[in-house]
Amino acid sequence: MPDIRLIYFSTASAVTSYGALVEIMDFAQPRNGERGITGILCYGSGRFLQALEGERGAVSDLYRRIAADTRHRDCQLVDVSEIDVRAFPEWTMKVVNWDSGDSARHRALLRADTGAVVFDPSTMPAAQASAFLLHLAELERELAAD
Ligand SMILES: Cc1cc2nc3c(=O)[nH]c(=O)nc-3n(C[C@H](O)[C@H](O)[C@H](O)COP(=O)(O)O)c2cc1C
Repeated sequence: MPDIRLIYFSTASAVTSYGALVEIMDFAQPRNGERGITGILCYGSGRFLQALEGERGAVSDLYRRIAADTRHRDCQLVDVSEIDVRAFPEWTMKVVNWDSGDSARHRALLRADTGAVVFDPSTMPAAQASAFLLHLAELERELAAD
């Protein structure tokens, strides 16, 4: 059975700051590791865009738990695909804070992939959201290597 990649977006609850998100991730990353889940989560302008990769049952179970989390609302599925190769294999969950990390290169990437100047995953069709996250991962790898 091939792995799947699930992409969704949501809106942060009023109380959910980037600091709260870091706390969530300190908890989530080891759990994802235990479950063989990898992925990336981009937070900006009060929105989340997250990709979860792994075994179909494990990803489905995690998405159910995430969608029920009151720290965000209105989870909307963007894309679910079977994958032969993971796009984020080295990250149990890479977190990108768009609000503080949006360098000129980040802005150029967003504009090239989506035509937008503000990070708003609610306006991204599946192909755009998927390409954006893949390119964001490439950029984050380059920045980490600098
Ligand atoms: C935007 C967002 C992303 C999250 N991502 C993950 C994740 O990747 N892995 C994870 O275990 N929990 C994640 N969580 C936390 C889950 O929603 C949930 O609190 C956690 O899995 C515990 O679930 P449980 O109480 O049903 O065991 C995330 C929460 C939010 C708000």
